[in-house]
Amino acid sequence: MAIVTLDNVKKIYPLGKTEVEAVRGVSFSVEEGDFISIAGPSGSGKTTILNLIGCIDTPTEGTVVVDEVNTGELNDKEITNLRHRTIGFIFQSFNLIPVLNVEENIEFPLLLGKDRISKKEKSEWLGFLIDEVGLTEQKNHRANELSGGQRQRVAIARALVTKPRIVLADEPTANLDSKTGESIIELMKKINREQKTTFIFSTHDPAIMKIADHIIFLHDGLIESEERRERENAGSP
Ligand SMILES: Nc1ncnc2c1ncn2[C@@H]1O[C@H](COP(=O)(O)OP(=O)(O)O)[C@@H](O)[C@H]1O
Ligand SMILES: [Mg+2]
Repeated sequence: MAIVTLDNVKKIYPLGKTEVEAVRGVSFSVEEGDFISIAGPSGSGKTTILNLIGCIDTPTEGTVVVDEVNTGELNDKEITNLRHRTIGFIFQSFNLIPVLNVEENIEFPLLLGKDRISKKEKSEWLGFLIDEVGLTEQKNHRANELSGGQRQRVAIARALVTKPRIVLADEPTANLDSKTGESIIELMKKINREQKTTFIFSTHDPAIMKIADHIIFLHDGLIESEERRERENAGSP
């Protein structure tokens, strides 16, 4: 079943007296459990598309359907709810709170929502996530004491803490060296396999995009091609 569908989406930004057509008529679907890359050079429209899916922005034309809801028909409160319930975000610049430790950074989104969760459940869930991203030994370290790769691992766990169905990651490896970047995408892929969370990440890096099961190649705001491959090990533990 499709969890995200874009239908003939256009996004035009005003720019002084002219305008920029960032996305010029894009249609594609993301299946639940997909591990998909929005790939393309700088300026091709990747961030714009992720912002439209994440309800950070609205299309000029066309529709964006997320989890069976047409996002263009939601009011601000419904958008906030959809974003909190359904979507987790990972950013290229990690966006952690430097003085909070690993565990506190991961817990942070729970403080913003109305999730009812007991102290015990919360501490077990945080412990599970910290272990999942391989940071148990660093769990009391402050974010500003971590390496770039460790920071992005914290950001992955933070994105997962509200149990979203979709995780959006805009160039999550752009500030990492290539080996660390690949290990971050492999970690996302492992979580995708284990938890069935849908991941949508953008990249301009061919070594990173090829880790995806499904690649949408963008060029100048249009889909140039789309590639799907058989999932290796699909269904195995
Ligand atoms: N807020 C904005 N205002 C004006 N132009 C923008 C804005 N955001 C993006 N653009 C333009 O839209 C195009 C696509 O941008 P973007 O989605 O950021 O591409 P990518 O993430 O692939 O680098 C670029 O030409 C960019 O300059
Ligand atoms: Mg971008």
